[in-house]
Amino acid sequence: MKHITCIEDLRELHKRRVPKAFFDYADRGSYAEETLRANRDDLQQIKFRQRVLVDVSKRDLSTDILGERAAMPLVLAPVGLLGMQHGDGEILACRAAQAAGIPFTQSTMSICSIEDIAASVDKPFWFQLYVMKDRGFIKSLIERAIAAKCSALVLTVDLQVMGQRHQDIKNGMTVPPEWSLSKLLDFASKPAWMSGILRGKRRTFGNLVGHLKGIDDVAALSVWINSQFDTTLNWKDIDWIRSIWPGKLVLKGILDVEDAEIAAKSGAQGIVVSNHGGRQLDGAPSSIEALPEIVDEVGSQMEIMFDSGVRSGQDVMRALALGAKSCMIGRAYAYGLGAGGQAGVAKAIELIGKELTTTMGLCGVNTIAEIGDHVLVV
Ligand code: GLV
Repeated sequence: MKHITCIEDLRELHKRRVPKAFFDYADRGSYAEETLRANRDDLQQIKFRQRVLVDVSKRDLSTDILGERAAMPLVLAPVGLLGMQHGDGEILACRAAQAAGIPFTQSTMSICSIEDIAASVDKPFWFQLYVMKDRGFIKSLIERAIAAKCSALVLTVDLQVMGQRHQDIKNGMTVPPEWSLSKLLDFASKPAWMSGILRGKRRTFGNLVGHLKGIDDVAALSVWINSQFDTTLNWKDIDWIRSIWPGKLVLKGILDVEDAEIAAKSGAQGIVVSNHGGRQLDGAPSSIEALPEIVDEVGSQMEIMFDSGVRSGQDVMRALALGAKSCMIGRAYAYGLGAGGQAGVAKAIELIGKELTTTMGLCGVNTIAEIGDHVLVV
């Protein structure tokens, strides 16, 4: 990992080491990918004020995230199918996050189960929930997260219907999965990846398998998942979740100020301003464009987190300058995982941390609390 100097290097390695279907699943966005691109373009438009001759010898990245101390304002976002990027991917990513002193969020659509991770790490992690039609199953999933001592529940609110990712269809990442000769040959040409997957605990949706009567093979599970998108989901369901989950609740996928206002009254402690990394509503504004108005409106009432497009410490600094308290990264660490397992995730976190501390130094700030819009050129 010595010559890996930025997240793009991890992305390149991931692309080489992992079958195309899984790399593309993480890398690509929905439809024409306008929002995917806007997330990056709009972040890069934001310029810093270079400040000099300020004592920046006491730089400190530590901060509070949802009331808990973290080594830096960064959280690993929920990412589906991590365990197909690398065997036991969710466990490895969680270990890397905890070693770095930041939270890891496990996706409902993980390969490892909640219990697998809980048995493999020392500290609590966060759990991300998709509310599906089968509310009995959702209740049991929340209860499993409680039993595993998860320290926050991240409810995804922007995936009631799924944005089409063209590349997933082309790659046969469909329901049920499509097996073509070219796909099998691609798998066979990635022996290191394959042996990691074969050594991993599981190769299917660990949170679901064994918990749904009579649905155990991948094809049946995929069909079940596809039938479970609950288009009736609405704000009243948050009350229902609140009645089961006693801990911290974060709503992930708020992009509109009116939704943020409702969220502020929902009993959730935080929101993630997010367009799902450009994977859902194509044509939506970039997440960074939406952030300032939401911060203005509800920033004093709840904790505002940010995701979608973060690939560097500079991007974290930009989001913090516009009022986010912390950022989630998804692709940035998934690339690390595909590139090099736990060490790759650790590398992604380290790179972003180093970029952030350098950017703070060059902008003349020492602490996370000091970061505000004064660090930006307006
Ligand atoms: C699921 O959350 C996805 O974006 O694939």
